[in-house]
Amino acid sequence: MKFGLVTASSLGLLGAPASAEPSMSYWRTFGPSGDAGTTLGWGLGIVSIVVTVLVAASLLIGVLRRRRKDGDPRSLAVRTDSGGMAWIYTGLGLTVAVLIVFAVWTMFTIAAVAMPAKTTMTLQVTASQWWWSVRYDSPQPSQIFSVANEIHIPVGQPIRVELSSPDVIHSFWIPQLGGKMDVIPGQANVTWLQADKPGVYRGQCGEFCGAQHAHMAMLVVADAPQAFAAWKADQLRAAVPPTTPEGQSGRSAFVAHCAACHAVRGADAGGILGPDLTHLMSRRTIAAGLLPNTPGNLSAWIADAQALKPGTRMPSMVLPAPELTAIVAYLETLQ
Ligand code: CUA
Repeated sequence: MKFGLVTASSLGLLGAPASAEPSMSYWRTFGPSGDAGTTLGWGLGIVSIVVTVLVAASLLIGVLRRRRKDGDPRSLAVRTDSGGMAWIYTGLGLTVAVLIVFAVWTMFTIAAVAMPAKTTMTLQVTASQWWWSVRYDSPQPSQIFSVANEIHIPVGQPIRVELSSPDVIHSFWIPQLGGKMDVIPGQANVTWLQADKPGVYRGQCGEFCGAQHAHMAMLVVADAPQAFAAWKADQLRAAVPPTTPEGQSGRSAFVAHCAACHAVRGADAGGILGPDLTHLMSRRTIAAGLLPNTPGNLSAWIADAQALKPGTRMPSMVLPAPELTAIVAYLETLQ
């Protein structure tokens, strides 16, 4: 568990960390879409702390120096005969100078994180209550595919991200790769991403969007170019038909119960209301970062999504146990 810079394990509250959960800390970024903003954030943070300390110290010194010495409660604690305005002018001058420095620094930062003239790839990200659909765009139709809640990008390349929402305002935010960009129904906002270090970066919807806003996470996985190419080739494949009888009956049950909302390329399932599941098992989590992607969690999610994420559009499916088991067995073949 992570709480910003302080982890429960670093405080000794937990034993050894079970897994390296990706950080949400925005104090350190890993690419040019975020670095300039982070540096500005540090600058502003440090100056704010220095100003707060200076003001508090000045106040304290003033109070102590001008404390009544005669013990008469009617005598003024503040002397008004000389010199007060010099402090005002000095403070005003310093403040204006600092604000000008930060105004200029901010303009340079905005320029530094602006969309680069050339990007290598375009992702169409649709934010819905409460998950992320990600379509990898291409001029060649055969190279287009969709995934959900887990974005893979090649390391070191600027990626264009086009944002849309069919319902309410969300916000696309990968703290370690850059700032937020609102996702607004009816408006085509665009942002970009670049990770210069391979790794898994956690993203989170940054705008309150309803009951499950907190459970609207995503992962950005930055792969070395070869690993990304391999991942992409895998994603482009249609699903391999199951070979076991259980997998086959699971596929029939899946098509009967799930295909109206979910797509599996290569099966008779073309729904678009929920995540594309063609390569479900290549993802680390399910339900927009809510649960690790394990067979047990898949079963629990299918059987009672409404208990795990109340209000989600995924219904709790009332299925006989053998049918549920078969569907999960089928899902596990979607590598
Ligand atoms: Cu989507 Cu908050």
